[in-house]
Amino acid sequence: NENPCPVYQQVRKHFRVFVGRMVSRRQERVWRYVEEGNLLKLKSFLRKHRDLDVNFSKGKRLRSPLQLACSLEDDAVLRLLLKHGADILQRDRKGDTALHIAANRALKHGKRVYDDVVVPLKKKCPEALNAPNRAGVTPQDLLNWMKNSQAAENMSRPPKADPEKEWLEKLFGECEDEFFETFGAYDEEEDFGDWVDRIRREYFHKKHVEAQRLAASSRKKEKCRQKEESNKELFERLQREHEEYLARAAQKEEETRRGKKRHYDERCADMFSSAASTSGSSKLSYGDIPWPAPRGTVQEMLDVMLHGVDRKDEAAFRKALRKQQALWHPDKFAQRCEARLEEKDKQRILDTVTALSQELNSLAQTLKA
Ligand SMILES: *[C@@H]1O[C@H](CO)[C@@H](O)[C@H](O)[C@H]1NC(C)=O
Repeated sequence: NENPCPVYQQVRKHFRVFVGRMVSRRQERVWRYVEEGNLLKLKSFLRKHRDLDVNFSKGKRLRSPLQLACSLEDDAVLRLLLKHGADILQRDRKGDTALHIAANRALKHGKRVYDDVVVPLKKKCPEALNAPNRAGVTPQDLLNWMKNSQAAENMSRPPKADPEKEWLEKLFGECEDEFFETFGAYDEEEDFGDWVDRIRREYFHKKHVEAQRLAASSRKKEKCRQKEESNKELFERLQREHEEYLARAAQKEEETRRGKKRHYDERCADMFSSAASTSGSSKLSYGDIPWPAPRGTVQEMLDVMLHGVDRKDEAAFRKALRKQQALWHPDKFAQRCEARLEEKDKQRILDTVTALSQELNSLAQTLKA
């Protein structure tokens, strides 16, 4: 029942390979039962269709039902397919036989899987052990590898990171799809050897780039750390210098204030001592009065007057305050000095005295409260 249409013929010729791979409906059924692990249905189906060829390939990986059963570690289905004449040496896209796949599963999941799926295949077809896949690896290689890695595990030694081994794992492992996504699928046109070489190069290149990136990022971190460190040191040095500067400035300020206070006390003594006030004959201008801060505000004058007095020591503070109140009391000041004040400065002098006196009084007031 060949389709006579020439276009169909053309297409069929063009996709010869594809059409050749097409599987029958019955084969689809077999595939589905294997996939589902439905042993009973598969058994009765195969009994009913004794001439059905189970040596077909399917899917992207071009696997046979036997290979599918191996990858599912389904030993019952596997034995049934073997009984039905399944070909152990049939290869998938990578050139793996069913025994390669079984060995890989055993490598991954251990002794039980080995007994279930490797042993029956080995028994039935011992020569399959030495059949290499397209990368030249035989099931025996994989099984030796398993023995070695189990021995290593038994000695509880952590497996060494071996890029070659990792590479092999990638190539033969079950994470094939992910691997294909990363490195691109094997192109039919491309020679398999070339493909292996290409993805091998790409794989190691990727590893190399990754290692460099890691190294660079750790160098960057180190640089950052050093910079932070030196910034911190700089900051601490500046902080220290600033504090030293403040301490020196405070000391200087204190010296200046003490000097002003001493100067003020001396001038007061000259001016207000009874001897001076009686013997003085020359007229007094505004500048001759011993103001604590000649060009300062009243508050600044008070600061000089009371410099060095501990304000927390109330008794001492009150005593110092009283002494200044006595000196600058307007009436007493007038008694002592009014006659000698120069007429042009007289009012200004008396006003300043009054202001000083009032400020001292209000300060004394706060003490009483
Ligand atoms: C499947 O392959 C095996 C092993 O080569 C062979 O004995 C069997 O006849 C094949 N089955 C069919 C239907 O060709």
